[in-house]
Amino acid sequence: MDSLSFSQWTSINLASQDSSILINPVPLFTNLQLKRDYSQLVIISDANVYPLYGPFLTEQLPLRQINKIILAPGERSKSLQTATYCWQELQRFEIDRHALIISLGGGVITDLAGFVASCYMRGLDIIHVPTTLMGMVDAAIGGKTAVNFRGSKNLIGSIHPARQVWIFSSYLQSLPAEEFSAGLAEIVKYGIIQGPQLFEELEKNTTAILAKDSQIMHLLIVECCKIKAFIVEKDERDYGIRATLNLGHTFAHAIEAAMDYQISHGQAVSIGLSCAFYTSKILGFIEHSLIIRLHNLLKSLNLPLSLPEELSEETLISYMYKDKKTVKGKLNLILVKKIGSVERIEAVEPKLILTALKQKKAEKELE
Ligand SMILES: NC(=O)c1ccc[n+]([C@@H]2O[C@H](COP(=O)([O-])OP(=O)(O)OC[C@H]3O[C@@H](n4cnc5c(N)ncnc54)[C@H](O)[C@@H]3O)[C@@H](O)[C@H]2O)c1
Repeated sequence: MDSLSFSQWTSINLASQDSSILINPVPLFTNLQLKRDYSQLVIISDANVYPLYGPFLTEQLPLRQINKIILAPGERSKSLQTATYCWQELQRFEIDRHALIISLGGGVITDLAGFVASCYMRGLDIIHVPTTLMGMVDAAIGGKTAVNFRGSKNLIGSIHPARQVWIFSSYLQSLPAEEFSAGLAEIVKYGIIQGPQLFEELEKNTTAILAKDSQIMHLLIVECCKIKAFIVEKDERDYGIRATLNLGHTFAHAIEAAMDYQISHGQAVSIGLSCAFYTSKILGFIEHSLIIRLHNLLKSLNLPLSLPEELSEETLISYMYKDKKTVKGKLNLILVKKIGSVERIEAVEPKLILTALKQKKAEKELE
């Protein structure tokens, strides 16, 4: 990893999306330029985040006509009802096509606000200011927007890249520990996809990471944004390499939906990674020692490994079939061959997944 400069933006450009990611350890607005001359500005945030960071952000913005929409925190806000409420507010504010939306919040807010912006007047510009680790390393990057619909996660959505993403890692200091760990699950996922170096960095630095050491967090965020930007550049619409980012996610989305979103996305991703590793082992791709290595890292980052008690393996598999990645009734999964090598396996037999999940449960005591 490169050394850190605290006084400069780290900038990553995504040419394919006319989008740039600006990363700085602390809020820095000098030399920050909006890409256009906007008529109005609307901040979409949630009731936890806005009081912490909204007023300062508002003061720094060059426009004076600023409206805000403050939503209830949590996954339940990622719904068509909430999106409709936002559109009603935009209409009430008499927003025109040259307005800019700024989303300020975690992945729920960036996904929802992105969706709202993508549909209103056939698309308004948006800037994401992610405030969770999940948002900084994943949700705000790459343009995927969505709401959940009738038991299916992210079923309705669009690809609507942010013109800019402003990442200030100091926002993590106020993030509750459990939410912080949830974001770490996605960083572990990047470590598995990208290769041994990032995975080993995580293994070596768990104490500093959990202490939210600003230097290491800044470097990790930059690294993850580069990985995601590289993948999105190659496959914006998710027909090829971008699917690798779904490692563990078919399991995770099914866990979230089956639990009626009473579990966070990041925690579900952690359990989903473990499920994907067990399925990889059943198919003969990996040895058990790699599962132990993954479990040790997830545990040391305070992430869960086991399926919720009340969720049977059979129910989980039935929810996996509702996932939007299911094609012609077949489950296609991203599975692991080694750290740094993952592969899309088509039509994985549900019987095999069930065997893997039963084995995982039987070994729970050893976890
Ligand atoms: N679009 C994508 O590519 C993508 C990628 C990954 C995840 N996601 C989505 O992101 C969502 C999860 O996002 P999340 O994990 O950020 O959850 P979240 O947005 O629900 O935020 C978690 C909680 O932390 C609070 N919070 C946020 N920032 C804070 C801060 N700095 N200080 C104190 N509290 C703060 C929020 O109010 C909320 O209560 C899921 O819906 C998931 O599907 C989307």
